[in-house]
Amino acid sequence: MDGTFNENDLSRVVEADRAHIWHHLIQHKPFETNDPRIIVEGKGMRVWDQKGKEHLDAVSGGVWTVNVGYGRESIAKAVYDQLMKLCYFANSAGSIPGSIFAEKLIEKMPGMSRVYYTNSGSEANEKAFKLVRQIAHKRYGGKKTKILYRDRDYHGSTLATMSAGGQDERTVQYGPFAPDFVRVPHCMEYRKHELDGAPEENFGEWAADQIEEVILREGPDTVGALCLEPVTAGGGVIEAPEGYWQRVQEICKKYDVLLHIDEVVCGVGRTGTWFGYQQYGVKPDFVTMAKGVASGYAAIACMVTTEEVFNMFKDDADDPLNYFRDISTFGGCTAGPAAAIENMRIIEDENLLGNCAAMGDRMTGNLRALMEKHKVIGDVRGKGLFLGAELVADRATKEPAPEKLTQAVVADCMAQGVIIGATNRSVPGRNNTLCFSPALIATADDIDQITDAVDGALGRVFG
Ligand SMILES: Cc1ncc(COP(=O)(O)O)c(C=O)c1O
Repeated sequence: MDGTFNENDLSRVVEADRAHIWHHLIQHKPFETNDPRIIVEGKGMRVWDQKGKEHLDAVSGGVWTVNVGYGRESIAKAVYDQLMKLCYFANSAGSIPGSIFAEKLIEKMPGMSRVYYTNSGSEANEKAFKLVRQIAHKRYGGKKTKILYRDRDYHGSTLATMSAGGQDERTVQYGPFAPDFVRVPHCMEYRKHELDGAPEENFGEWAADQIEEVILREGPDTVGALCLEPVTAGGGVIEAPEGYWQRVQEICKKYDVLLHIDEVVCGVGRTGTWFGYQQYGVKPDFVTMAKGVASGYAAIACMVTTEEVFNMFKDDADDPLNYFRDISTFGGCTAGPAAAIENMRIIEDENLLGNCAAMGDRMTGNLRALMEKHKVIGDVRGKGLFLGAELVADRATKEPAPEKLTQAVVADCMAQGVIIGATNRSVPGRNNTLCFSPALIATADDIDQITDAVDGALGRVFG
C-alpha cells in the first residue's frame, strides 16, 4: 500500500472512496451516513475489511469469480513473469500464453476449436452476437438475424447484451434496445405454475417446446441463434429440468439455429465439470466464459466456437469484408491467459472439480436439512458449488418472501462474518433467492459454517 496511507487506519481510503468512487449496482444515498465497505485483503476463502473484520466469502468475490481462492502466489508469479516478458500486443498477432491457454482450453471442450479473447463476459457475448449477424449476411441473404434469449437469463451490461436480457429490473429505463432479440419462456420447474399451459409431467420437454413455438411464430428463416445460460445465475439459480436440453438441441438442429451457451458464471469448474453444458450432453456452437477463467487474478474472457463456424469466415481473401472485422484491445493483454493457465493447473492438481461436486452435495444436503426447520425455504437448487435457496412467504402458494427480508438474511450473515448473496435487481417481485458460490477449495468446515450462519439468520429474520 502507498506509504502515505497508514494500513491500520484506512479512514482516508474510506473518505476517498466516498468522495470519488461510483460503486457497481448500489444506491449511494446510504453512504451519506454509513461508510462504504472496503475489502482490503484476501487469503483462501476469507477476506478482511477496513475494520480488520474477517469474513468467510461464500460468493467468491461477490459474483462467482475467485474460484481457486484468494492469495494464490503461483498465479501472481505467473502474471508477474509474463508482464516482465511481454505485457501486451494486439491479438492480431499471437502470444505465448494466449496460444498455450487456448490449446489447454480446447482440450477440455471436445467439439470446440477456436478461442477469441476479450475482456469481459458482456463483450464475449457480443462477439458471438456479431458472428451470428454476420453469418446471417454471409449465408442467408441478411435473414436469420434474430437471436433468442430466455426469460430470467442475463448476458451482460452493454446495450446489445441488455437487448438479450431476461431480467427486467436490470433493463428498465435503459432502452431502447437493439432489434431482433426475442424472448423465450423460462424453464424453472418450481415456478411452472406461473406459465400458461405448463403440464405437471414432462415440464422440461414442454419448456423446450415453447422455444420451438417462438421460432415458428417468428419464422425459422429469421432466427439465427439461441443464447442460454447452462444454469441461470442471477435470475434465481435455475437448473433446467430433465428432458429440456435434449429437446433444445433437437430444435436447434431442426431449424438451423446456432446454440450459444453463456458460461460466464458456470465456466471453468463452478458446477463440478469444466463447463456447465457438459453436465447435460449439450453440443454448443458458441461458448462464452469470463469470471472463473482466471479466478479474477487478471481480466480475461473468451468466446469459443467450432471449426465449422470459424471456416465460414475464412474464404475469399480478396474480399475485404468477409472475415470477422472485430478487435478487443485488452483481448491482447497477456496477463489474462498467463493467469488462466496457472488457474487451470491448480484446478487439475488440487482436484477442485471433484471437491466442487463433493462440497456441492454437502451444501445441498445442509440446505435441504434447513428446510425441515425453516418453512420459509421453498426450494433448494443448483449444481456443484452454485446453489440457491428460494425463500417463500407460503410453501403452498409459493408466494415469494419479501425482498427486504431476503436482504435482511444476507445482512445478518454479513454481521456474523459470512458473505452470502441474493438475487438482486433481477426479476421484478422475484428477488427472493439466497445465492451461494463458495470457492472450489471450500472444506466441509467452511460449508457447515456457511449453512450454520444461514440457519441463525433465518431464525432471527423469520422467527
Ligand atoms: C451469465 C452471465 N453472462 C454475462 C455476464 C456479464 O459479464 P461481465 O460483467 O464480465 O460483462 C454475467 C455477469 O454477471 C453473467 O452472470
